[in-house]
Amino acid sequence: MDYKIALIPGDGIGPEIVREAKKVLDKVCEKYGHSFSYSEVLLGGASIDVHGVPLTDEAIATAKSSDAVLMGSIGGDAKTSPWYKLEPSKRPEAGLLAIRKALNLFANLRPAYLYNELRKACPLRDEIIGDGFDMIIVRELTGGLYFGERQTIEENGVKKAIDTLSYNENEIRRIAIKAFEIARKRRNKVTSVDKANVLDSSRLWRKVVEEVAKDYPDVTLEHMLVDNCAMQLVRDPKQFDVILTENMFGDILSDEASMVTGSIGMLSSASLNETKFGLYEPSHGSAPDIAGQDKANPIATILSAAMMLRFSLDMDKEADAVEAAVQKVLTEGYRTGDIMSEGCKLVGTKEMGDLIAAA
Ligand code: NAI
Ligand code: MG
Repeated sequence: MDYKIALIPGDGIGPEIVREAKKVLDKVCEKYGHSFSYSEVLLGGASIDVHGVPLTDEAIATAKSSDAVLMGSIGGDAKTSPWYKLEPSKRPEAGLLAIRKALNLFANLRPAYLYNELRKACPLRDEIIGDGFDMIIVRELTGGLYFGERQTIEENGVKKAIDTLSYNENEIRRIAIKAFEIARKRRNKVTSVDKANVLDSSRLWRKVVEEVAKDYPDVTLEHMLVDNCAMQLVRDPKQFDVILTENMFGDILSDEASMVTGSIGMLSSASLNETKFGLYEPSHGSAPDIAGQDKANPIATILSAAMMLRFSLDMDKEADAVEAAVQKVLTEGYRTGDIMSEGCKLVGTKEMGDLIAAA
């Protein structure tokens, strides 16, 4: 099959990890007889350097006319990078929020899976890990605090800042449906995370999720308060299958979940709209501290490319093959620095990509 893919290398380690993911996709095309045509899109700091803004209309148009978008990461070191001398709405991160909104990517899927080979990199005790864990966080991505009205005002000489957390029923319903559909293909359990003991937005969230649950009698629904969930993720992560939550709670909980799998360098993510289209990127940022040193773990980006094959391009067996290749290389003992442990073979970004492509 022929497909159009928009590639966003981005900033920091972005170009290095996207290069390795493309290498793996080239192998998939060669082996299964597909043809992907790529258009490179600038976003974040890379776009500021060329166009003066973190996202252009032309970049949005290129992304929209593609079947899927594969992205590295954007952003720089806030202390040293000139991008952070710009006002907040012109910085790299504003471009990322804007492209999510422009493409209506309301559903962010973040799997957190512990490879048996990486048990030693997991900070949890053996008896907590047990047989390992395998969960997915379904995070609402275009509403809530990050998109609500905000302002800073002065009252009687005292500065005051206001952010707004709002959700309507439709926004809650569509993300809840995604979570239940995903649970059906997994272990049939949804944990909906909110703060319904305090927030009105959470009470509406809970009500709508319960309505949606009626259409999925085969899926067990439980509700959990977000502070409890933060604790349960390190106390007993095995209990989770699908975690459904709003934008900011999901942002924080998914970073926490990533760390219990060993390294943020392993975690893929997909951001989807109502159609098959999606934007695929690692869960981590641009890691300016290791950029350009051939140290970044490309696996999160390679696994994001596998999600792209599965969700946007209907290529299940190709996605399985990429995931199996990652598994094989880990079983053979190859590790980048972030997941290195005794007795394993340390490799750089490029070699890890070569090994996975070959596998
Ligand atoms: P980060 O995720 O970039 O880095 C956190 C730590 O994890 C660093 O020590 C880094 O070296 C390490 N790390 C991250 N990815 C790795 C990989 N693939 N292999 C090995 N080690 C890895 O988060 P940080 O430092 O808070 O943010 C850096 C920049 O990234 C900021 O400008 C931030 O705004 C941006 N950012 C961008 C995101 C995106 O593009 N979606 C998401 C999160 C942050
Ligand atoms: Mg985050």
